[in-house]
Amino acid sequence: MIEQLEKLKKERDAIIVAHIYQSPEIQDIADFVGDSLDLSRKAASTDAKTIVFCGVKFMAETAKILSPQKTVLMPDIGAGCPMADMINADEVKKLKQQYPKHKVVAYVNTSAEVKAESYICCTSANAVEIVNSIDGGIIFVPDRNLGAFVQKKSGKPMIIASGFCPTHNNFILPEFIIEAKNAHPNACVLVHPECRPEVIDLADFAMSTGQMCRYIPTTSQKEFIIGTENGIIYRLQKDNPGKTFYPVNTLATCPNMKKTNLAKVLTALLENKNQITIPQEIAQKAKKPIKRMLEI
Ligand code: 13P
Ligand code: SF4
Repeated sequence: MIEQLEKLKKERDAIIVAHIYQSPEIQDIADFVGDSLDLSRKAASTDAKTIVFCGVKFMAETAKILSPQKTVLMPDIGAGCPMADMINADEVKKLKQQYPKHKVVAYVNTSAEVKAESYICCTSANAVEIVNSIDGGIIFVPDRNLGAFVQKKSGKPMIIASGFCPTHNNFILPEFIIEAKNAHPNACVLVHPECRPEVIDLADFAMSTGQMCRYIPTTSQKEFIIGTENGIIYRLQKDNPGKTFYPVNTLATCPNMKKTNLAKVLTALLENKNQITIPQEIAQKAKKPIKRMLEI
């Protein structure tokens, strides 16, 4: 399958990009692995005609919005993000009516329709910076945990929606962090800002997945307790063979991220299957907040 994929990639002028939460077999065949900010940047800069996006739908949609002339394929079109589904465009419109002077900051984990109603996007890697760049009131959607984290870091009061990531919110709990710290007292605790505030308070740092990957090689610390989706552990072990990683909860996986497999990647490319399409009007409106974010 890997040989066939390599051949097809050349014929189609395609690249395979994968989020850090993807399974090892996918990370190993990807041309580029990154967090959602890295992946948006890659989608904006690649010359390839086709992007096979191994991640969840909002990520592939962001790639298509940034590169409408390219073919963007998803190995499994049913790989969504439950957090992104926790807010829709009508709800954002209502919030804007309620707070007409506020600007909407949309986490990239949102549909194209929600982005189209927003002023600016952010990812977990740049959310504090993005919020700090805005004067005046802010409506933050959809993640209540990332929202609370940014509010605390920036000191700016915000209207925060009530969405959450089931994987981070429900599987990475304070008692598990305490247990892991007791078992590994010398380990540094890194968690994702999609975790509950009580979890973030117990950690040494809250970081995006890409920030964790970049931070770990730079510190002399040898052991790490990792509070995010467990796909990242494979990446961290591969990149840092001398260091040890303990997942906070081995059950903290994102079922949607794990829908992608090698056979589905091959089929998507072979059959040009599961192309991302976004109505032009929505795509044009959604591009503005993403571009604003990338400029910052
Ligand atoms: P990153 O921005 O850290 O890649 O996270 C994306 C995501 O979906 C986290 O659950
Ligand atoms: Fe969505 Fe959570 Fe999965 Fe990330 S880990 S894609 S936020 S459900």
